[in-house]
Amino acid sequence: MSRYWWYPLLVLTTSVACASAHPSSVYYVHEKRTELPSPRISARRPPQDLAFLLRIGLKQRNLEDLPGHLLAVSDPSSPTYGHHWSPERVVAAFSPSSHAVNSVKRWLIDSGIQESRIRTRTNKAWLNVHNATVREVEKLLRTEYQVLKRDNGEETIGCHSYQIPVDVGEHVDFITPTVQHSLTISDAPPQRHGDIRHKYNIRRQTKGSADLSRCHEAMTPDCLRALYNITYKPKMPAANNSFAVVNFHPNTYLQSDLDLFFENFSPSLVGSSPTFVSINGGALNATAETGVGEAGWILQYAMSLATPQKVTFLKVGDQTFGGPFGAVSFNEWLDAVDGSYCTSDGGDDLNFDPQFPDPIPIPGAFNDHSCGIIRPPNVIPVSRGDEEGRLTEFYSRRQCNEYAKLGLMGVTVIYGSGNTGTAGATRGYCMDENGTVSPNGTLFNPAWPGSCPWITSVGGTQLRVNSTVFDQNPEEVTSVDLTMGFFTSAGGGFSRRFPTPAYQNRAVQEYLKQLRRTDPGKFKVFNSHGRGYPDISVISNRYVSAESGALVNSSGVSGSSPVVGAMISLINDARLSIGRGPVGFINPALYSSGFTSAFRDIVVGTNTGCKGCTFDPSSCNTGIVILVCYITVQGERFGGFAAMPGWDPASGLGTPNFDSLLKKWLELP
Ligand SMILES: *[C@@H]1O[C@H](CO)[C@@H](O)[C@H](O)[C@H]1NC(C)=O
Ligand SMILES: *[C@@H]1O[C@H](CO)[C@@H](O)[C@H](O)[C@H]1NC(C)=O
Ligand SMILES: *[C@@H]1O[C@H](CO)[C@@H](O)[C@H](O)[C@H]1NC(C)=O
Ligand SMILES: *[C@@H]1O[C@H](CO)[C@@H](O)[C@H](O)[C@H]1NC(C)=O
Ligand SMILES: *[C@@H]1O[C@H](CO)[C@@H](O)[C@H](O)[C@H]1NC(C)=O
Ligand SMILES: *[C@@H]1O[C@H](CO)[C@@H](O)[C@H](O)[C@H]1NC(C)=O
Ligand SMILES: *[C@@H]1O[C@H](CO)[C@@H](O)[C@H](O)[C@H]1NC(C)=O
Ligand SMILES: *[C@@H]1O[C@H](CO)[C@@H](O)[C@H](O)[C@H]1NC(C)=O
Repeated sequence: MSRYWWYPLLVLTTSVACASAHPSSVYYVHEKRTELPSPRISARRPPQDLAFLLRIGLKQRNLEDLPGHLLAVSDPSSPTYGHHWSPERVVAAFSPSSHAVNSVKRWLIDSGIQESRIRTRTNKAWLNVHNATVREVEKLLRTEYQVLKRDNGEETIGCHSYQIPVDVGEHVDFITPTVQHSLTISDAPPQRHGDIRHKYNIRRQTKGSADLSRCHEAMTPDCLRALYNITYKPKMPAANNSFAVVNFHPNTYLQSDLDLFFENFSPSLVGSSPTFVSINGGALNATAETGVGEAGWILQYAMSLATPQKVTFLKVGDQTFGGPFGAVSFNEWLDAVDGSYCTSDGGDDLNFDPQFPDPIPIPGAFNDHSCGIIRPPNVIPVSRGDEEGRLTEFYSRRQCNEYAKLGLMGVTVIYGSGNTGTAGATRGYCMDENGTVSPNGTLFNPAWPGSCPWITSVGGTQLRVNSTVFDQNPEEVTSVDLTMGFFTSAGGGFSRRFPTPAYQNRAVQEYLKQLRRTDPGKFKVFNSHGRGYPDISVISNRYVSAESGALVNSSGVSGSSPVVGAMISLINDARLSIGRGPVGFINPALYSSGFTSAFRDIVVGTNTGCKGCTFDPSSCNTGIVILVCYITVQGERFGGFAAMPGWDPASGLGTPNFDSLLKKWLELP
């Protein structure tokens, strides 16, 4: 059974507290659901003495200053460039004030809730009211709960809106369970999570080749070194720098695959393994059902390019997690590297994130919570993605803020931009006018977390036909229609939620000017005021990797993010070796005028637009290798974004010349 959607913590009690109104307070509607989600309302009301855990999320302080603080340490023109913050300073700067905690507590006590039932966690981001009854909470929040039935038969309770006093509201982000309908009161039959998350790989048999004249057929570490001019050899002891890749169940790797790859392409690494860190029960074993997935590919490139830097493998989730179609929750790895972000103190959404410790333990399954188990590594590439519109506004904002906090601490977070052009990363659909993801949608559907301005989004290129890595401009935007209707096209576009950040404003305005001349009709299908992605690109096509004993041919930006991660790790090594800090959040530097010459501008190629796709789950191969889901292309109704001089939402700033990037970063303090 999937662990997602469980929110039981349910105790039936008969005790009723006598509530009295908060003295001399004006109440107002704090949250209101504007549109019905999928659950349907039943006429029933929940039992008045149904008891549950009421959770009050307190507003973090000073979040409006977060972008400014981040730019102060990451904008090359800032006098405090590179002065990253300690984790303790970050917690102290943003956690709710004692005044906020006390005000909300006072309101609860004045309303008749015994102090013994009110608990706070270490950093005070939440106030929990234990054993709250429907009767009590309806009075407290001036609302009425209803029973809702999801399509899968599961029943939840929730309300349409609720009210709190004005002077309390200024300290409260949100209260659950209320408008989110997250409190389950009866189970649905066991069910798989309904969505196919990003599949970044397509596989073909290939023969290994170290021949640089054949890089257009088979990309190898030597091809990448030649193409991006990576000649630097690390100087620091591996323990003084850190570089980690994140992967999710069921992906894992086989040592025999690493060795097969290293024998062919990185002989000095034969026998080497990554440093393993288990997050929420992540294990290294693979099963015939789940296969090994893409983790081997990612590790082979991260380790080969960064060597002798050790690579840490952050493996999220045990075998009870969602299965091959399971949700990935980026909050899990964020919790693991930043304890202050963890569920009880942070903002997990139980529609997306598993609840830990599991209130109904699954025998043999992990039943703790990996909170703050390692110091944040200096560079963290992640090869999975989702869609901005699938997440609630609160959820995406809170996670985006967390990426900014990691940047403030000196961490570089890198995500691939997706493989479905301007359409959604999970199924290749666009959206209709009311924001619903639909096969007939015509509005571009931005990727998550690519649309968060505080991560680095990496897009994909490929070598042009007959080009070699020694040519002047051999790359173009990846966009290929592979066999069986599976297309791969570098993800790019604009957020519908996050505005264009200052660091890229000039680049985006230049691009929009060109678009207005060349394709003005396109403005109606994307948000031209949004954060544009990707930031940069590297090859995403035809990587050779070893998987389940064979050398295979893999494509997708899953390969691009660890390659950029390895480059940044080498740059950090060079900086550490002269007594400087890691580069942290790199976007303001990448977009600064001093860095322009460090990129090869990609001006050829277009990513795909809104394809009418249908997903056929019966075509998913859950065999030994990995599930490959084929999408039938019904014909592209209009194209995506074309590469142009300068930044564009197909290739970003272009592909890096590692050697110049290194020189630029060694000039910075
Ligand atoms: C909640 O109620 C249960 C069952 O009555 C009791 O065991 C538990 O101690 C209560 N918790 C608190 C915090 O009052
Ligand atoms: C890799 O896959 C692509 C796409 O299917 C194919 O065209 C190419 O020939 C393959 N390369 C090798 C070396 O097999
Ligand atoms: C590649 O890097 C080397 C070593 O730093 C440098 O000498 C050379 O000029 C660079 N080549 C290009 C094409 O940038
Ligand atoms: C590496 O880190 C260790 C422990 O923090 C420190 O003692 C040592 O000086 C560092 N090495 C270099 C070359 O900076
Ligand atoms: C995988 O490893 C975990 C932890 O070591 C273990 O509990 C689990 O049974 C293993 N699963 C399989 C399929 O081997
Ligand atoms: C959303 O818009 C489409 C047409 O663009 C319409 O068919 C559909 O009913 C709308 N859905 C909702 C929930 O309003
Ligand atoms: C999409 O459009 C086609 C053709 O107009 C129509 O047959 C189909 O029902 C539509 N699908 C959805 C989900 O609206
Ligand atoms: C690539 O090279 C082959 C062999 O030289 C040639 O036949 C083909 O036309 C070339 N393709 C392009 C697009 O230049």
